Amino acid sequence: MSNTFYVTTPIYYVNDLPHIGHAYTTVAADVLARFYRYAGREVFFLTGTDEHGQKVERAAEAAGETPIQLADRVVERFKTLWVKLNISNDDFIRTTQERHVKAASRFFETIQEHGDIYLGMYEDWYCTPCESFWTEQQLDNGKCPDCGRDVHKLQEESYFFRMSAYQQPLLDYLEANPAFVRPVSRYNELVSFVRGGLKDLSISRTTFSWGIPVPGNPKHVIYVWFDALLNYISALGYPDDMERFNHFWPANVHLIGKDILRFHAVYWPTFLMAAGLTPPRQVFAHGWWTIEGKKMSKSLRNVVDPYRLVDLYGVDPLRYFLLREVPFGQDGDYSDEAIIHRINSDLANDLGNLLNRSVGMLDKYFKGRLAEPTDLTDLEVGIRELTETTYRQIKSAFEEIAFHHVLSAIWRLISRLNKYIDETAPWTLFKDPDMHPRLMTVMATVFEGIRHISQMIYPFMPESAGKMRAQLHLPPITPPYSQLSKDYTWGQMRPDETITRGAPLFPRINA
Ligand code: ME8
Ligand code: MG
Repeated sequence: MSNTFYVTTPIYYVNDLPHIGHAYTTVAADVLARFYRYAGREVFFLTGTDEHGQKVERAAEAAGETPIQLADRVVERFKTLWVKLNISNDDFIRTTQERHVKAASRFFETIQEHGDIYLGMYEDWYCTPCESFWTEQQLDNGKCPDCGRDVHKLQEESYFFRMSAYQQPLLDYLEANPAFVRPVSRYNELVSFVRGGLKDLSISRTTFSWGIPVPGNPKHVIYVWFDALLNYISALGYPDDMERFNHFWPANVHLIGKDILRFHAVYWPTFLMAAGLTPPRQVFAHGWWTIEGKKMSKSLRNVVDPYRLVDLYGVDPLRYFLLREVPFGQDGDYSDEAIIHRINSDLANDLGNLLNRSVGMLDKYFKGRLAEPTDLTDLEVGIRELTETTYRQIKSAFEEIAFHHVLSAIWRLISRLNKYIDETAPWTLFKDPDMHPRLMTVMATVFEGIRHISQMIYPFMPESAGKMRAQLHLPPITPPYSQLSKDYTWGQMRPDETITRGAPLFPRINA
């Protein structure tokens, strides 16, 4: 199997400011990227912005700007947010960049040369906010089935992609690749959707001009979804650098929200097939966040403005909350109460206390100096075994992209270490000088456990992992210099430096 790992987020529309939904997908992708880099894979992590189309053209008009002025302004909001959230993307693609425009035109021409693009007339119900055409049957009480807003009849000369020809190839691909769509329930929905028939797809527009011109007929611009999906390959250097393209393609996973599954799991693989390219390995559609039970709306946006949440709670607590609170793939609800609860119980109490009390005890009992453990009992062997089991569980949960399972496995180990301290009662051992070697064994075991915890939480909370390790005088995790396969061997706490108490990692939040 290839050692590369290519992960993407959707490219976000620049007609909207980033909110917690965008942060969610991007943080999830970052956690995968960090985990696999640390695991020794060659990762390529891509995010970016979707800058063409009627929505952006209209938003710019409303703001009294040109579309590119609007895009240039809003793209900075995304970029600074990713810095603030500690996102480790390897590239950032904008669909207005020349590399993308060139790739999209070439891709269009390639499919056209294969005979899968033709000029025709299109008429159907059109939802402008969603940039989507709908058939009569797809409408929901006469409204857009995606957003519930008004639709109108639209007729125009259009280029069509012969998607109907790819119904069977797509079904064959789905059958041969049962992991192509996750969660499983979405895979099943998708298969029945495709069985229901694929119609040819209109892939150009003449009613506005903010887009990539159709090669040879600039009266048309390329449909924004056709343009946008291509970002996943234009960023790899398609078509000029096919060596690099082939190195990372097919993508291991496109992370998206469930709102855009059809585009990624129907349109995208059929476009690729028509161009003679392999579809991605997997599309994972996560669930939808609501805010205190309500759909996110402009007025609620400031409540869940990710900048504000980072300032209030800190980057790592926010990253942790997003991936712990809701099983990845299911819908979730944001409330201040829920995040405060997670921070106080999981972070301040369980993890923060483990570190804090351990450093405090080592300081008091041995002036902060660790020594080698001696005479291991079943308890210590049990902790070591649980640590090894936890790594295995983490690995397989990552393969399923089940972040909540990764985190619950880590927290079982944290609880076990806290319980181990209670069971061994170091404060009692300390009273009897004969028990001091035993006390040192307990301390060494606890600190070795904490070292492993810092490695396990690293993809989720890189900054906190770094602070924990700094307190323990351990080197930071900086792939490729440190590798999980070396770091996970038991028994690597070095006893040659004094460990002193630092500031609490996760202060309690008083609601
Ligand atoms: O759809 N809950 O861009 P977009 C969870 N440009 N995730 C959410 C969310 C919510 N309430 N709101 C947004 C587009 N998201 C296209 C994509 S890709 C080739 C083109 C996240 O700005 C989620 O990942 O509307 C969703 O799929 C994405 O933002 C939509 O972002
Ligand atoms: Mg959207």
